[in-house]
Amino acid sequence: MIILGIESTAHTFGVGIVKDGKVIVNVKDSYITKKGGMIPPKVADHHVEVFDEVIKKALAEAHITMKDVTAIAYSSSPGIGHSLRIGCMAAKVLANKYKIPLVPVNHCIAHLEIGNITGAKDPVLLYASGANTQIIAYEAGKYRIFGETLDIGVGNFIDSFALAMGLGFPGGPLVSALADKGNKYIELPYSVKGMDVAFGGILTNLKNKLNQGNFSKEDLSFSTQETVFAMLLETAERAMAHCDKDELVLGGGVACNKRLQKMAHKMCEERGAKCFIPENQFLVDNGGMIAYLGAIMYNAGHTVSVKDATINPYERTDDVDVDWK
Ligand code: ATP
Ligand code: FE2
Repeated sequence: MIILGIESTAHTFGVGIVKDGKVIVNVKDSYITKKGGMIPPKVADHHVEVFDEVIKKALAEAHITMKDVTAIAYSSSPGIGHSLRIGCMAAKVLANKYKIPLVPVNHCIAHLEIGNITGAKDPVLLYASGANTQIIAYEAGKYRIFGETLDIGVGNFIDSFALAMGLGFPGGPLVSALADKGNKYIELPYSVKGMDVAFGGILTNLKNKLNQGNFSKEDLSFSTQETVFAMLLETAERAMAHCDKDELVLGGGVACNKRLQKMAHKMCEERGAKCFIPENQFLVDNGGMIAYLGAIMYNAGHTVSVKDATINPYERTDDVDVDWK
C-alpha cells in the first residue's frame, strides 16, 4: 500500500509518501519572507507555483509514478482557507485522473500521530506550532484538549515578537539564535491560567520594552524563551500528573527549539517519565505526517470521493472521532 500525502494548511506545501506504514519520502517548499509576515493570498500563489514540482520530486525520490499510489491523503483542516484550497484541489485533480480515493486528514492530529514513530505508546502531547498551542491526551475515542492557548499560538507569538524586532518570517529560529547570545533574565508576565496559557499580554509587554530601547534583543529573546517554555511545560506536566501518563511527546514547529527540548527532557527526567521528540522534518508542517495518518485512516475506511472532498478551516482536534486506535 502506497499513500501520497499533501500538506497545505498554511505556509508549507509538502508531499510525503508512505509505503507499508513507513515514511519513505518527505519533501516540501515553504513560503518565507526576509521582512514582514505571512499574507494568505500570497501564500496561496506560492502553493500554486510549486505544487507540481513538489509532487514530481516526491514521486521521483520514491521511484514510483502516480499509477502506484493507492490513495491520496490531504490536509483538509484546520488552517488558512486560501492555502487549504490549493492542496485540496491538487489532491482532487490527481484522484480524479488516476481514479483513486481521497483521505481527508486533520493537520493537528497528524502532528500528534507522527509522534508514534518515536516509540511513544500513550503519551501526553505538547503541540506547539504557529497557530496552535495545546496539551492533548487520548481518552475514550478522542484526542482531548487538557489545556490550550487562550489567544494566539506560541509560534505566532514568537513570530510577532520577531516581526516587532524587524526580523522576517518564520521568526522562531531567529529568536532562538538571539536567545543563545542572551544571558540576563528580564522579568516578563508569566501567564498560566489553570491549564491554559496566554501570550497576548507578554507580546504587548515585549513591544513596550522594545520601544523603551534599554533592553538588548538578545536578553529579551532569552527571557521570552525561558518564560513561555516554562509555561508550556508547567501545563504539560500537570496534564501528565492528572492523566497518570508517563510519556511526553513534542509536536509542531516550535518543538524544533533546542531550549524547549532540553527543558522538556529535564521535566520528564525529574518525574521519571520519558520524553519523545521526532526529528525536525516531522515537527514542522510536512506531507510525511499527512501520508502517515492517511495510511492509518485509509485502513480504517476513511475514504471520500472527489465530489465529497472538502476543507474545514475551523475543525478542532477534539471534533474528530478517533476510531482507528
Ligand atoms: P499549525 O500546526 O498550528 O497549523 P503552522 O502551520 O504554523 O502551525 P509549524 O510548521 O508546525 O506550522 O510551525 C511553525 C512555527 O514554528 C513558526 O511559528 C516558527 O517560527 C516556529 N519555529 C520553527 N523553528 C523554531 C525554533 N527553532 N524555535 C522556535 N520556534 C520555531
Ligand atoms: Fe502545523
